[in-house]
Amino acid sequence: MISPQAASANAVDPENRPAPGAAASLTILGIETSCDETAAAVVRLDADGTPHVLSDIIRSQVDEHAAFGGVVPEIAARAHISVLDTIVAAAMEEAAVSFDDIDAIAATAGPGLIGGVIVGLMTAKAAALAANKPLIAVNHLEGHALTARLTDDVAFPYLLLLVSGGHTQFLLVEGVGAYRRLGSTIDDAVGEAFDKTAKLLGLSYPGGPAVEAAAAKGDARRFPLPRPMLDRPGIDLSFAGLKTAVRTAAHRAAPLDTQAVSDLCASFQEAVSDVIGEKSRRALELFATAHPDVAPALVVAGGVAANSAIREKLDSVTRAAGARLVAPPHRLCTDNAAMIAWAGIERMRDAATRGETVDDQNVSPRPRWPLDANAAGLIGSGRKGAKA
Ligand code: KG4
Ligand code: ZN
Repeated sequence: MISPQAASANAVDPENRPAPGAAASLTILGIETSCDETAAAVVRLDADGTPHVLSDIIRSQVDEHAAFGGVVPEIAARAHISVLDTIVAAAMEEAAVSFDDIDAIAATAGPGLIGGVIVGLMTAKAAALAANKPLIAVNHLEGHALTARLTDDVAFPYLLLLVSGGHTQFLLVEGVGAYRRLGSTIDDAVGEAFDKTAKLLGLSYPGGPAVEAAAAKGDARRFPLPRPMLDRPGIDLSFAGLKTAVRTAAHRAAPLDTQAVSDLCASFQEAVSDVIGEKSRRALELFATAHPDVAPALVVAGGVAANSAIREKLDSVTRAAGARLVAPPHRLCTDNAAMIAWAGIERMRDAATRGETVDDQNVSPRPRWPLDANAAGLIGSGRKGAKA
């Protein structure tokens, strides 16, 4: 188990440095640039299987994008270019490692805003070639999917609910590289719905925390809002209609005073919680059918997992289903490079069990890259969210 303190790893314990020549341990530099965080981290897996986050540097671009109320791809790519080398150097320095000490470089190769993905992947490829190390091209979603194994040592299989600004999906995680998408948003990501609701109501960016703070002072019964897709079987979700319903309610109640804004936020947040709670309950039922002999665990990841109302709902749904709810520390739940380094470690370790090695120097950056290649295409799966 890694403590949040260790995850932020500002002060590195010299005891954590890799032992020279410890052949069975793995140390990987991870790079993440797929949205609006420029991040680099060094993660080591000891020979005895204990993971250590040796450094975890994240530079958020929130200030650069705030004026636009959302991530601007061009600005994001330029900002990644200007700081990535400094961030990588800082991660190596904080971890007290040189390129000689690391076994591989892992970088997000998609899905994401293509300009940023190119910056991170090309930087990683160049560094890997120069240092003569393997390059591991990581799917950003795989990073989120495997984080709970770094933080909470969760065993396969488990259920993952990823709720962020770019993604909203349920995945059955059965092993490294074995992911089945059970359901997904057919339009907006849930974080995006929070951000757009905030923008509409004149709240600050990013919208999730602002909507949650306003909702705390509001009455969720004042505005009856729809619970999209609850009347349909299955696990897919939809948030575009809910966003439109918020807009309609706001226009009807205009001009909005502070209380009306809070009431709308509370009504919106409750609708989202109800939908996510019910879809999670159904996903846990599917999990039980697929793996009747496994004690179920629901892992929640992504920025929206910070929302207390949604967390409470997930708590009661998992308790009712006899399942364990695992929520990694916020810093490792949102975009970071430790999860990319860790996914690299998992991939190398998994390949080693088959006597194989990994080197993805030939992999190209990809704006879209579903984790489950067999999943049916989604209606309206056009690029909606920042990272859809
Ligand atoms: O995982 P993340 O940091 O980045 C992405 O991969 O998108 O998630 C950011 C998203 C934003 O849409 C933000 O508004 C939302 O997570 N968020 C929240 C809360 N904190 C962040 N949504 C609801 N409630 C919150 N407390
Ligand atoms: Zn993410």
